[in-house]
Amino acid sequence: MCSLIFYLVFYLFDPYPSFYLFLLQIVSYVMNLHTQPRSFYLTRHGQSIYNQSGKIGGDSGLSKSGVEYARRLAKYAHEVIGMSRAGEEDDSEKKVVPARLWTSTLRRTIETAEFIKHPEIRHSLDSGLDIDWVQFRPMARRNLDEIYAGVCDGMTYKEIEMTYPEEFERRQKDKLAYRYHRGESYMDVILRLEPMAHEMERTQEPLLIIAHQGILRILYAYFMGLSREDAPYVNIPLNTLIKLTPHADICEEERICLMDKEEMLHDGQDEPITSMPASLGKNCNAMYSINDPIMNAPSH
Ligand code: F6P
Repeated sequence: MCSLIFYLVFYLFDPYPSFYLFLLQIVSYVMNLHTQPRSFYLTRHGQSIYNQSGKIGGDSGLSKSGVEYARRLAKYAHEVIGMSRAGEEDDSEKKVVPARLWTSTLRRTIETAEFIKHPEIRHSLDSGLDIDWVQFRPMARRNLDEIYAGVCDGMTYKEIEMTYPEEFERRQKDKLAYRYHRGESYMDVILRLEPMAHEMERTQEPLLIIAHQGILRILYAYFMGLSREDAPYVNIPLNTLIKLTPHADICEEERICLMDKEEMLHDGQDEPITSMPASLGKNCNAMYSINDPIMNAPSH
């Protein structure tokens, strides 16, 4: 609100509004600064029936392995994301902290959140006000729905290549700008995610986002400072939580595997397991700096 008033006053009275637009961005940046670092936890939904058969898009439910991931994710959410002193030895000091949960509106993400409980807790706001807080209150956000593949929705990559060879070729050449016929491009997805990324920046509580590969690539790229061109190739495997903690100059990353490598080798992963960093075995934690992104080679 303050920044809006600031903008209006200077925009109306200044002959060089672009300078004040710049100033507005600084004000907005300063207003979104946090004294306490807070984390976002990004994960794809558990394996879906479509993932199992290599089909893209659709609105299928979870496979057996996907349901198992949902169970483990709920345990992690309660024991780590919604707890203070996470990861420390002394359990007696742990206490429940308010946390948020966003999913897409698609069945596979909502089912992945199914085992997460929503007890009511007390939350002391920065203003000193105490409120009742529904822990991990589920918010289904349309902006988090997977990139829409239009006429290719529900097909495998092989079927797309055979039915629409030229389209397939065009996407291979320019994955960022390519727009599926009657569907979306990654550029479209970037546009619809931008306000959401700003909203994430303003969030005070730890935030768990259960979404989709294409969507998480863009959010990841935004916070890790990757280029738009690189974003469509970021490696976002199934069964893995990506914890991002933005600081002033870098964004810290940790990847937490909730299934072990053996389990993943047999669950019909839609991405080659060889594209995962070798260190990502059971209970692995890997730290990457902003200059060390994990990228997928352009695959299909
Ligand atoms: O394969 C799973 C999926 O989430 C599809 O629904 C979606 O079209 C695809 O990933 C996005 O990945 P890419 O842009 O590499 O095709």
